[in-house]
Formats: sequence, C-alpha cells, structure tokens
Amino acid sequence: MRRKLHIRTYGCQMNVYDSDRMASLLAHHGYERTDRPEEADLIILNTCHIREKAAEKVYSELGRLQRLRERRRREEGREMLLAVAGCVAQAEGELVLERAPYVDIVVGPQAYHRLPELLASRERARGGVVDTDFPPESKFDELPKDVVAGGPSAFLTIQEGCDKFCTFCVVPYTRGAETSRPAADVLDEARRLIDSGAREIVLLGQNVNAWHGEGPDGREWNLARLIRALAELPGLERIRYTTSHPNDMDEELIRAHGEVELLMPWLHLPVQSGSDRVLAAMNRRYTADDYRRIVDRLREARPDIALSSDFIVGFPGESEEDHEATLRLVEEIGFAQAYSFKYSPRPGTPGSVMPRQVPEEVKDRRLSELQALLEEQQRRFNAATVGRVLPVLFERPGRHPGQLVGRTPYMQAVHVSDPEIRLGDLALVEIVAYHPHSLAGRTVAPHREWERAS
Ligand code: 5AD
Ligand code: SF4
Repeated sequence: MRRKLHIRTYGCQMNVYDSDRMASLLAHHGYERTDRPEEADLIILNTCHIREKAAEKVYSELGRLQRLRERRRREEGREMLLAVAGCVAQAEGELVLERAPYVDIVVGPQAYHRLPELLASRERARGGVVDTDFPPESKFDELPKDVVAGGPSAFLTIQEGCDKFCTFCVVPYTRGAETSRPAADVLDEARRLIDSGAREIVLLGQNVNAWHGEGPDGREWNLARLIRALAELPGLERIRYTTSHPNDMDEELIRAHGEVELLMPWLHLPVQSGSDRVLAAMNRRYTADDYRRIVDRLREARPDIALSSDFIVGFPGESEEDHEATLRLVEEIGFAQAYSFKYSPRPGTPGSVMPRQVPEEVKDRRLSELQALLEEQQRRFNAATVGRVLPVLFERPGRHPGQLVGRTPYMQAVHVSDPEIRLGDLALVEIVAYHPHSLAGRTVAPHREWERAS
C-alpha cells in the first residue's frame, strides 16, 4: 500500500531543496507526497534554527500535530509518524524528545539519506530515534539521483556548511563544516533539472561563492568556472546563486557577472552591519569600506546589477553611532531588496554571551528605522522599472484566474494576465505598474515557449 508523506518546510531555500530530496528518497520507499497533513502517514517538519522565533515555532506546530494524531487514532484507529528534520533537529537532538516525547524521528541535515533506516528502526524501538551524526559518507552520494524540477526555477545545492563562525550564527553548528560537491555531480543534476522542466537554476550554499570543487578535468574549479560550464547546458536560460559572503567575491566571479549572459544581474550579498566595530565583533572579517569596494567592482562589471542584503540590528555592543553607520551604508549603496532582523541570541554562539546585549525596545526602534529606509529603496527600485521592457520567466500561477507570476532578471515578481503565456515561458514584458513588493506587466513580444523534453 502506498503511504502518504507531508513535509512542512521552514527557513531557507536549502531546506526547500532538502525537503524535495527527502520526498524523492521516500518515494522509493512507497511514500507519496501530500499537501494535507490530516491524510499523512508520515509528517516531517523541516525546521530552521537561525533565530529563536523560527525554532520555537516548531514546538507549537508539533503540539498541534500531536493533537491531530490523537484525534485520528481515536476516530479512525490510524497511526501517523512525526519526524523533526533540519537545523532544530541538528542543534537540539535529544532535547527535541525531552520537549516533545511523542516525536518518532529526529534527523539532522547530514543524515537525511538514512531516513529509510530510521523509519525501520523506529518500528523496532520503543521511543523516538535520533540521528544527528555528521556521517563520513556524503548524503549526496547516497540520495537517489532522479531529481525532478518542481517548476521552471529550480534549486540546486552545490555547497553546504560553513567554516566562518560569525559570532551570531548557528549555521556552522547545524550544517557542519564547509563541503563542496564535485562539478560533475552538479552538472549532472543540472541536466536532470533542465530535462524535467527547469529553465532557471539557483545554485545554493550557505557560503555558495566559497564553492571549490573538483572539475571534470581533475583540476580544482571555483564558482565562476562552474557557472561558465552551466551556462553551456542546452535549454538553460538563467543562473543565480545564493547566499554569498563578501570575502569570497573573487575577481573571476565578479568578471563573470559582466561576461556570462545567463548569469542574472542580481546578487544577495549580506553585509549585516555598516559599522566596522560591529563587523569585527561579528567576526565578519571585512570593513564597511571593503564592502563598498566590492559593490563598486560589481557595478563596474555589470552596471545594472541589483543588490540584495541581510542586516542584523542590535548586535551586542551596537551603539547609536554604529546603527547610524549602517543607515549611512544603506543610503550610499542603494539596495533593490533586503532582509533585516533583530539580533536573536542563539545558544552556543559567542554572541549570546557577549556583554552589552541591546534592550529589545532599542532593537525594535532600530529595526523600524532601517526597514523604513530599505522599503523606500525597494519602492524606488521597483518604480524605476515601470515603462521598461524586461525578459520575464514565468514561474508559478498567480492568485487570480489566468494570471501568472514571473521574475525579471532583477528578481522582482511580475504579475501578468495573458492567456497565451504558459509556465516556463520567457517573454518580453512591459512593466506597467509597481507595488511595494511586486510589479504588474503586459507581454509585448512573442513568447519563447520551452519544449518540455520530458
Ligand atoms: N539573529 C538575527 N539574525 C540572524 N541571522 C543569522 N543569525 C542571526 C541571529 N542570531 C540573519 C543574518 C543572516 C540571515 C540568514 O539571518 O542576517 O544573513
Ligand atoms: Fe535556518 Fe540556517 Fe538551517 Fe537554513 S541553514 S534552515 S537558515 S538555520
């Protein structure tokens, strides 16, 4: 009998990618994916530990699912397994079972390929089973190779983990040491994604631009080299990569932005703060001026590049002056889009025990000042695209019937209603209006429809 699997994904794009890989692995073991938790035989929460709020959400969700399970047991006599995967699983391990003893499986991101064994040992064990190993084998070698694109834009993890140890961040502990997949593996997976419908590939890594893998020629490749090889794959239209660290923006990668047509003029390059004192305390190992210089070089290579960033306000010791330095940097650079967060002390990280933690109300005020500025920049950036004709790749259905949502090269979402367009089309669109977080457009040129090879 086929069993049903429901996965709920929190956090970053890598978790989205991981959820798909877990689903395809479990499909080989009789599980079919469903959107409806109430009909599932196995529910996996793929969790995020980056900020306290994200991590705490997991426990309230687990409580809800446990009540659902008990009702089903009572009313239908049916069982359901509950698994916690992702970064909360990795960071908290056994503690998940202490807080939620009814959980069946706790599995960290480096052990996903062992899920079938964990399911089997859960049947034998009396309590929950935990696997938060960093196994010697690579999960990528163990997971099934039959990846399928979920849509015209597909994620592809090429690098995982982090050795940089920013003092605010849990990632080095939850995802482990930095590893890069060999180029041949990446190219092979990219071909499969293209064959199954992808026209855009978004390369993923916690430090994606630190990727350095063995090339098919036996030499070590860097990300620029990998991007150039991907750009040769027939059927692919767009390449992006995320998330990057400023210190790994090497000359070749910057040059690729000016030379590789498929590489989109968009870059998510987290700066975190505009104050050198705070950057040093965060162990970012660059100054605000270093960041400015990188942006200048990127803009020299690709003048229209749209920049996105992450910011943390209220890191321990952040003064009013430091905060103003961040606002100044934002004003000078001009971001197309950004994410900003209040510092959240994470257990086990150096930042959490630093003196001079910033009071919550100060964080709130600084966050709203920063967000007002960033929102205004995003609004201006979107407004400046009105009247332009841009290539848009249509990625998903819109909320209204007949409407599709695509993206400009600059990552802006565009809503278009045109019965002629299909998902996966790349069409020229005139931008006719802007909203705070999206654009509206109308198609002006014949669509290049992509022939599904599968
Ligand atoms: N508190 C607040 N924000 C954080 N981030 C990472 N760790 C923390 C933390 N402890 C933010 C950073 C990072 C993004 C993914 O999340 O800005 O770039
Ligand atoms: Fe969250 Fe980081 Fe884990 Fe992604 S890698 S799920 S952002 S803690």
